Amino acid sequence: MRAVIFGASGLLGRSVLRAFADTNVTGAGFRRSNGLVRVDATSASDVERLLDRDRPDVVVNCVGERRPAAWASTPDQARGRNVDAARVITESARQRKARLLHISSDYVFDGKSAPYRPNDRPSPLNVYGRWKLLAEQVVLAACPDAAILRLPVLYGPAQFAAETNLTDIARQVSLGARLELDDVCVRYPTHVDEAAEVCRRLAEALLHGQCTASVIHWSAAQGFTKYRLALVVAHRFGLSDERIRAGEADAARGDRPLDCRLVCQGLPAAFGSVHRRPFRTEFPSVVEPWLLSPRPVES
Ligand SMILES: NC(=O)c1ccc[n+]([C@@H]2O[C@H](COP(=O)([O-])OP(=O)(O)OC[C@H]3O[C@@H](n4cnc5c(N)ncnc54)[C@H](OP(=O)(O)O)[C@@H]3O)[C@@H](O)[C@H]2O)c1
Repeated sequence: MRAVIFGASGLLGRSVLRAFADTNVTGAGFRRSNGLVRVDATSASDVERLLDRDRPDVVVNCVGERRPAAWASTPDQARGRNVDAARVITESARQRKARLLHISSDYVFDGKSAPYRPNDRPSPLNVYGRWKLLAEQVVLAACPDAAILRLPVLYGPAQFAAETNLTDIARQVSLGARLELDDVCVRYPTHVDEAAEVCRRLAEALLHGQCTASVIHWSAAQGFTKYRLALVVAHRFGLSDERIRAGEADAARGDRPLDCRLVCQGLPAAFGSVHRRPFRTEFPSVVEPWLLSPRPVES
C-alpha cells in the first residue's frame, strides 16, 4: 500500500504515521516539517505536487485546527485548516483515484441527546463543529466513496504540555495551583494509538472495497469531566486534590456540547477487533513527563 498522511506532525498524525510504518508511507507536515515533506494543505499546487510524486493508494487527512484560542484569534486560518484543506486534499485525491480517509470530530453534535450514531443528525454548537461538519459535506460531495472517521478528545504522547487537555490539566494539578474545572461536560478521552490503529484498518478496508459506510464513529467507552480527570491524575500520583474545585465553566458557555458519546459504528465487518487502550492503564505514562514539582502553597 502507498499512503500519504497529511497533518503527520500533529498529535494524531504522528501516531497514524507510526501505524502505517509497514507501508510505503509519506508524512506531510507544515510548520513542523522535520523529517516530513512540507506541504501547505490549503494550496492545491502543494498537495498535487506531493500526490503526483507519490501516487498513493490511500490519503489520510489529519490536518485541522482544534484549539479554541485559534478559532477566536485567527478564524480565517482556522477555517482554512479545517475546511479549505479538506476541500483541496479531497479534490486532489479524487482526481488521482486515491481512496480518502478524512478525520472529523464529535463536535458535529450538540451533546444534548447522546449517544450518537453515525447517521444521527449533526447540529454543531460552535464554529469548530460547524467547520468540521462543513468539511464532511465538502468531502462527501466531491468524493462519495471517502470514509469519514469521527473521533472524541484524544490523548497520547505529547510534544508540549498544552498539546492535549489531559497533559495540560496534569501539569496544573502537579503545580498545586488553585483549579476550578468543569464537572458537567463529559468527554471520552481516547488514546491516539487506538485511533491510529482504526485509521490503518480503515485504509486497508477502503482499498479492499470492504468499507461500505461513509461515516464511522470510534471512541473510548469511559467518560470523564475535566474535574474528574484532574482527580484521577492527583490520586494516581499522590498529589494533593485540596485546591481542585468542581465548576461548570464549559457548560455555562453554552457553546460546548454536554455529552457527545459516540456509538462505535460503521466499521467494516471484516475489521476484526481493535486493541483497546483503557484510560486508567494508559494515562500515567502519558502525563508523567509533564508533572512539575509543586510550588509551596501560599497561606
Ligand atoms: N486532538 C483531539 O482531541 C481531536 C479530537 C477529535 C478530532 N480531532 C481531529 O483530528 C485531526 C487531527 O487533530 P490533531 O489533534 O492531531 O491536531 P494537531 O495536533 O493540532 O495537528 C494539526 C496538524 O495539521 C497540520 N496543519 C495545520 N495547518 C496546515 C496547513 N495549512 N497545511 C498542512 N498541514 C497543516 C499541522 O502541521 P504543523 O503543526 O506542522 O503546522 C499538524 O500536523 C483534526 O481534524 C482534528 O479536528 C482531534
